Amino acid sequence: MKVAVLGAAGGIGQALSLLLKTQLPAGSDLALFDIAPVTPGVAVDLSHIPTAVSIKGYGEDGLATALQGADIVLIPAGVPRKPGMDRSDLFNMNAGIIKNLVEACADNCPEACIGIITNPVNTTVAIAAEVLKKKGVYDKNKLFGVTTLDVIRAETFVAELKGKNPADIHVPVIGGHSGTTILPLLSQVEGIEFSQDEVEQLTHRIQNAGTEVVEAKAGGGSATLSMGQAAARFCLSLARAKQGEAVTEYAYVEGDGSDAPFFAQAVKLGKDGVVEILPYGQLSDFEAKAKADMLDGLKGDIQTGIEFANQ
Ligand SMILES: NC(=O)c1ccc[n+]([C@@H]2O[C@H](COP(=O)([O-])OP(=O)(O)OC[C@H]3O[C@@H](n4cnc5c(N)ncnc54)[C@H](O)[C@@H]3O)[C@@H](O)[C@H]2O)c1
Repeated sequence: MKVAVLGAAGGIGQALSLLLKTQLPAGSDLALFDIAPVTPGVAVDLSHIPTAVSIKGYGEDGLATALQGADIVLIPAGVPRKPGMDRSDLFNMNAGIIKNLVEACADNCPEACIGIITNPVNTTVAIAAEVLKKKGVYDKNKLFGVTTLDVIRAETFVAELKGKNPADIHVPVIGGHSGTTILPLLSQVEGIEFSQDEVEQLTHRIQNAGTEVVEAKAGGGSATLSMGQAAARFCLSLARAKQGEAVTEYAYVEGDGSDAPFFAQAVKLGKDGVVEILPYGQLSDFEAKAKADMLDGLKGDIQTGIEFANQ
């Protein structure tokens, strides 16, 4: 198993790489790529951790080598938010980065599963799909927007509110990865009842959790450590699925298009990525309205990505 992290010297990249160095299956290879000159040093630093995961760092001219033979590529490369910014404000900076990096994936590891972390995820995943289509290597089962952070936040906040162990809480989160497109299905949390006030407050907190971190870091960036954990969970699930285990995760993927061309929901993973997109079941009236209200925005975000990639 070879995993490549693109943007590995950043806040998310370093946290993610640490978790992968300590948790990937024995015998795995980890390739760290970033344009920051510190990248080979990050890899040397991590290489002193005694696990059976080999690790190598690649600077600016090492992208192709970092990607060759990769089974999974995770991309947190790009600029994070500052206070007052929306994820869509990152589009101008990050769209070109994703285009270039995904082109390199198409050229060097066309069969790899690619997890996009770079915001705005609603749009960058659509850019990645178009780039892969142009290169003739698009497989919708192997391209993911990583929305795992929304799920772990929802589970943490529900557990906090109800005095439960977060490990026992399961919250489906569907839609996209920005503001009101993030839709937690609190009506489906087993064994827990919420008042309407709690539903409204929790939904708002989950949708704005990223901003909570951006404001608390006061200009020092957005979520990096919790995102590192979320991306590691997603990657380890993909790795287990590649080894034949049946695993389910939430991710932003191309489905049947009944809601939007890309939509986050539960996906069953296998050796070649998505095996099945699972239905999200019955929504409460509140959730059905929230979904209906956000779909135009989500579709617009996707269209922006398609147009950027084809301009
Ligand atoms: N999907 C999510 O849930 C989620 C959560 C938090 C943050 N994010 C996003 O993840 C991205 C990274 O956040 P961060 O806090 O790690 O930022 P960061 O600034 O700490 O790190 C970004 C890294 O990307 C590198 N980089 C820039 N251009 C590159 C290129 N062309 N090739 C390779 N590397 C390149 C930089 O050198 C830097 O090391 C941001 O876009 C942020 O909005 C996503």
